[in-house]
Amino acid sequence: MPVNLKGRSLDSLLNFTTDEVNYLIDLSIDLKKSKYQGLHTNNRPLVGKNIAIMFQKDSTRTRCSFEVAAFDLGAGVTYIGPAGSNFGKKESIEDTAKVLGRFYDGIEFRGFAQSDVDALVKYSGVPVWNGLTDDEHPTQIIADFMTMKEKLGNLKGKKLVFIGDYKNNIGHSCLIGAAFTGMHVTLCGPDSYKSQMRQEVISECEKLFRLNGGSLTFSNNKILAAQNADVIYTDVWVSLGEDYSLFEPRINELQNYQVDMAMIRAARPDVIFLHCLPAFHDDHTIFGKDIKEKFGSKFPVVATGAMEVTDEVFQSKYNKAFDQAENRMHSIKAIILATIGY
Ligand code: CP
Ligand code: NVA
Repeated sequence: MPVNLKGRSLDSLLNFTTDEVNYLIDLSIDLKKSKYQGLHTNNRPLVGKNIAIMFQKDSTRTRCSFEVAAFDLGAGVTYIGPAGSNFGKKESIEDTAKVLGRFYDGIEFRGFAQSDVDALVKYSGVPVWNGLTDDEHPTQIIADFMTMKEKLGNLKGKKLVFIGDYKNNIGHSCLIGAAFTGMHVTLCGPDSYKSQMRQEVISECEKLFRLNGGSLTFSNNKILAAQNADVIYTDVWVSLGEDYSLFEPRINELQNYQVDMAMIRAARPDVIFLHCLPAFHDDHTIFGKDIKEKFGSKFPVVATGAMEVTDEVFQSKYNKAFDQAENRMHSIKAIILATIGY
């Protein structure tokens, strides 16, 4: 059956079907080819449409992807940042949604609670795209699995290892992406994180694994987890909105789960390294420098300012995180076009 996503919101990827997710991945690849051929300059299918992009947390990739994708498609864009609007302070999410739904054809939202996305969907009456919540990062996942498909071809049966803070939004989202594409995913980190996974996501994914192939396993040993891996993926150890005081306990919990060359060498020779970015791989950031100075002598693993991945891996040929970052724009373009196109 042909896929039709007109009018749909991308609130959680779990509200989509396997065909719909794979359609978005393939449309992203097609739109990337069109852009490389310059075809976007003579075809602006969303002229006359407008979108709002709202951020309660900072962003580089997601914001710029929505803006460039909208420009390429011919749509207008309004950016509403963490400060400078009434949203959530003087005006409820419900009332804001009702107002924006009268101006705009679609709304991107990055925030904390998944229930805020649900409220925007309910009250705006237009497609809402989840640009990251504490639970999920669905637009990221379309770009990630698009990148894996470009690099590995058919994803069914391939092995993805997500290592580090796997109980976070990206860990859950990688699990969901693997379940839709039939990949074997290993979540690697401390045993105590397993019970902090959202059980309803695990059970939905188990149903999808039965349908699509693939599987979920947990590991507390990065070298064993890496064996036969096609993809090694990690994320920051402290996420947006989490308190700075969490850095020390997280470094303590995750010091054995830094992606290093020993882990890469334990994987398949053609393994790729992915990271949603931004990444702590050296001391060229305020946080990286601070972590190095405060915790470098107590925890040698962060002595250079690198946390979740060493600079050696980050600068190596295995790192495809910048292809992945570029693909955020192509995939967000696909999501906008599929849901609000004519
Ligand atoms: N990966 C990602 O969402 O990046 P930003 O936080 O820069 O948008
Ligand atoms: N887990 C990270 C992902 C950033 C794209 C965060 O929520 O900050």
